[in-house]
Amino acid sequence: MHYDDKAWQEKMRIKLDVNNMFSKMIGQEEGLSQEDLKDYQEQVYKALENIEEAKEAGKLGFMELPFVQEEVVKQLKEAAEEAKDKFDNLVILGIGGSALGNIAVQTAINHPHYNLDAEQRNGYPRLFISDNVDPSGLKALLDVLDLEKTLFNVISKSGGTAETMSQFLLARKLVAEEVGAEKVAEHFIATTSKDSGFLIEIAKREGFKTFHIPENVGGRFSVLTPVGLLSAAFTGVDIEALLAGAAYMDQICQQQDLWKNPALLNGVLQYLAYQNGKSLSVMMPYSDKLRDVADWYRQLWAESLGKEVDRTGNKVNVGPTPIKALGVTDQHSQVQLYTEGPFDKVITFIEVEDFGVNLEIPEAYSDLQGVGYLGNHSFKELIETEKNATELALSQKNRMNETIILPEVNEFTLGQLFYLLEMQTAVIGELFNINAFNQPGVELGKHYTYGVFGRDGYEAKQKEYENRPEHDDKLII
Ligand code: PA5
Repeated sequence: MHYDDKAWQEKMRIKLDVNNMFSKMIGQEEGLSQEDLKDYQEQVYKALENIEEAKEAGKLGFMELPFVQEEVVKQLKEAAEEAKDKFDNLVILGIGGSALGNIAVQTAINHPHYNLDAEQRNGYPRLFISDNVDPSGLKALLDVLDLEKTLFNVISKSGGTAETMSQFLLARKLVAEEVGAEKVAEHFIATTSKDSGFLIEIAKREGFKTFHIPENVGGRFSVLTPVGLLSAAFTGVDIEALLAGAAYMDQICQQQDLWKNPALLNGVLQYLAYQNGKSLSVMMPYSDKLRDVADWYRQLWAESLGKEVDRTGNKVNVGPTPIKALGVTDQHSQVQLYTEGPFDKVITFIEVEDFGVNLEIPEAYSDLQGVGYLGNHSFKELIETEKNATELALSQKNRMNETIILPEVNEFTLGQLFYLLEMQTAVIGELFNINAFNQPGVELGKHYTYGVFGRDGYEAKQKEYENRPEHDDKLII
């Protein structure tokens, strides 16, 4: 396989350019110095040690994923081949960590109009990812699908998320009505915890095919489990290359030297930026393919780092606010603010070196200077120049920024990117001394909903909800 080839791997290695985080580029007042980093050298070594210890103790399952899934990959590929002939549509029912990675992989790897173009699909089913319970959106999707030719993948690690399970209940009822109760099992695959939760119980009762999410992998770290790998395999993505990319980045992220380990380096830089008042962290890929990676990362960063208490129980209320933007599109929406607004942001650009297509801007109107100058250039030149120009403008205005560089967008580089961002999140969690792997804030909202809907065990939450303060009509205009 070409992704085992060392020279190819090196060529496909993603890089991190942090020049514009330092005072040499953005001035003394806003920029960091090498000295600032030296002070953190010890802390990052400790962070890496703690991460390794937690991994050894079996707590950080995401770090094991690139190495332990040979059998799962085989099963997923077999299931994907089977589904190819049987189904025209695959619908993912999931939310948060059980949907965002699927969307990111699909957008990055498959053709942008994959669902519209049968030739691009190469016999694989169309993919729909339903991650909301807006009745109009859900109804619209289920109305247009031929359920005879539709496979549903219900994804929920806990097996009890109200949104996902409600969608499942509806899809199951419709399949039973339209295709036949005896055929329901053929139309559902459950991806969930092996031994806990209600979805596994339902799957067993109904005889659904199942794939498992390891207990020690949290939802937002689960893109490289069957959560993300199933829809990837079922749409023709090379899931072995995704895992190989993650494994390659794992090696890089084991290095203790800050200047050889991008997860450590970026973890500490983002941490220092936050300490210097940059509480907003923007991710801005200059690539349509990577736009949903920024969305995936937004959840990873927000749920992992937004915490009320540190590990010793002190109230800290920390967490950088992740913001997603898209280059060049958001140059015409956000960049004015990033360049001249408050000094509260650090911008991470993502740059792609090879877009895989060559598209020229045609020459015309040479007599009209304001348009004629565009001809004889390419769109690649245009997007690159605009990224460099935005970077320069931000730097001239003393704004912290950095760039993650992908040689091209493929499964191997995407696997690296996922893993790098996950490791970086673990590192910064260590520096904040918080638990980056829980999400008590998300659970609280879930529990109120369970209470209101009458789920056993959530009566106290129902009471709290019912006794919530009344809204004052005078404040509703
Ligand atoms: O990262 C997380 O843990 C959450 O975003 C979950 O993925 C999300 O709440 C869905 O949970 P579940 O997979 O249990 O349905």
